[in-house]
Amino acid sequence: VSKAVILVGGPGKGTRFRPLSLDIPKPLFPIAGLPLVQHHIESCASIETIKEILLIGFFQPTEQLNRFVREMKDEYKLNIRYLQEYSLLGTAGSIYLFRDLILTSGTEAFFLIFCDIFCDLRGILSNMIAFREKWMNYLVMGVQVENEQSMNYGCMGVNPQTNEVVHYIEKPSSFVSNHINGGVYLLSTEVFDDISKIFQERVGTGNDSISLESDILSKQAGQGKVFAFMNEAFWMSIKSAGSAVYASRIMMEMYKKYHPNRLSTDANCDGNVYIHPSAKVHPSAKLGPHVSIGSNVVVEEGARVKNSIILDGVIIKKHACVLSSIVGWHSTVGSWTRVEGTPTQLHPDRPHATTDNFYLFDDNGKLLPTITILGRDTITPDETIIRNAIILPGKELHGMKLGLQNQILL
Ligand code: GDD
Ligand code: GTP
Repeated sequence: VSKAVILVGGPGKGTRFRPLSLDIPKPLFPIAGLPLVQHHIESCASIETIKEILLIGFFQPTEQLNRFVREMKDEYKLNIRYLQEYSLLGTAGSIYLFRDLILTSGTEAFFLIFCDIFCDLRGILSNMIAFREKWMNYLVMGVQVENEQSMNYGCMGVNPQTNEVVHYIEKPSSFVSNHINGGVYLLSTEVFDDISKIFQERVGTGNDSISLESDILSKQAGQGKVFAFMNEAFWMSIKSAGSAVYASRIMMEMYKKYHPNRLSTDANCDGNVYIHPSAKVHPSAKLGPHVSIGSNVVVEEGARVKNSIILDGVIIKKHACVLSSIVGWHSTVGSWTRVEGTPTQLHPDRPHATTDNFYLFDDNGKLLPTITILGRDTITPDETIIRNAIILPGKELHGMKLGLQNQILL
């Protein structure tokens, strides 16, 4: 397997990731200090046979995106390209559009990876190569989740003897199976024949989006072509902004195994902490566990940060306390102010629970407890309490001595 395709979506996608995706394409959002999709690229680069990575998306190739691709090429010494669709063509439509580029140099099979899933990808990719037999036209990485969460994903009926996917239903309205599609595929190039048939049927209908899941897998399941590679290890999807904090936590734990030098060894850090080299953290501030600090951040004396992502250019003033939150680019947290969210807690007796909360509100329209998110350029006054809140970019919270709880501030 010499190629990997990573689908990065585009504007219009990533809506569940707001307000953070208003400022940066979700694939570039930092997880444990590095852009989300860099973790996927790094995992692909660790597979010796992979020589080329194609990122497909509907984002305009901005200077930021082009610079990122150049940096990735230099860093991993691979042929990495960003390919832009003319509209969101769906998970199958997008690879079909660029099939000529995928098929060059005699590709027989390739990886297709969604950028919004998180797991120990490098281990999984090599295990999938070892597991796959040539006749397994479609090999899907499957994971087990809690029954009530399964309906947010593609559900698969898997024959435990043969690993064949005998039924596939994308986001069913009632419970089908807790084996779900984990968003990593090893596909033989015959997939383009199957997509081509759907493409021909759609010509002239004005609908040029084709879904690998709803249009292809649901039809091909049970025909001896679709197989599941069940991943028993950790997996999560990153749909909501709050899930980024948990993803960062998991990634920093993986740094221990693959990149221990990325974790801080400073005396005032407790547990896994990533600090960008340009950040200035006062020695009397205490960070961690599960904290990542972006570039040019200033953390003043006596401040406390735990289980949070602090984005570039933020100032955390003296004795402020930030717990289970994401503080957006260039925001200021006032001194003695407390910004606190509700951490994502995985139940120890429920090993298959995933972290993503798909719903912001309960049945009565009340905001569910969540990670607190301060959008870009938020200025919070001194001595305020902000709890379980989501604040859209650019807010100056004047005269809010009483603080803000369980609210979305538009
Ligand atoms: N380039 C491009 N073009 N990328 C796309 C497009 C498109 O038209 N549509 C989706 N993507 C990318 C997204 O950016 C994301 O990385 C991935 O493909 C899947 O996105 P969604 O279409 O939003 O699907 P989903 O995440 O709700 O569900 C899919 O993933 C689940 C695992 O997280 C399905 O495959 C489910 O079956 C699966 O369980
Ligand atoms: P668990 O992780 O649930 O056990 O909670 P915890 O006991 O660690 O407390 P919590 O998550 O609420 O607080 C995390 C850290 O922040 C602890 O080390 C607290 O001492 C510290 N902390 C909590 N509130 C403040 C505060 O207002 N100011 C400062 N400077 N530190 C605080």
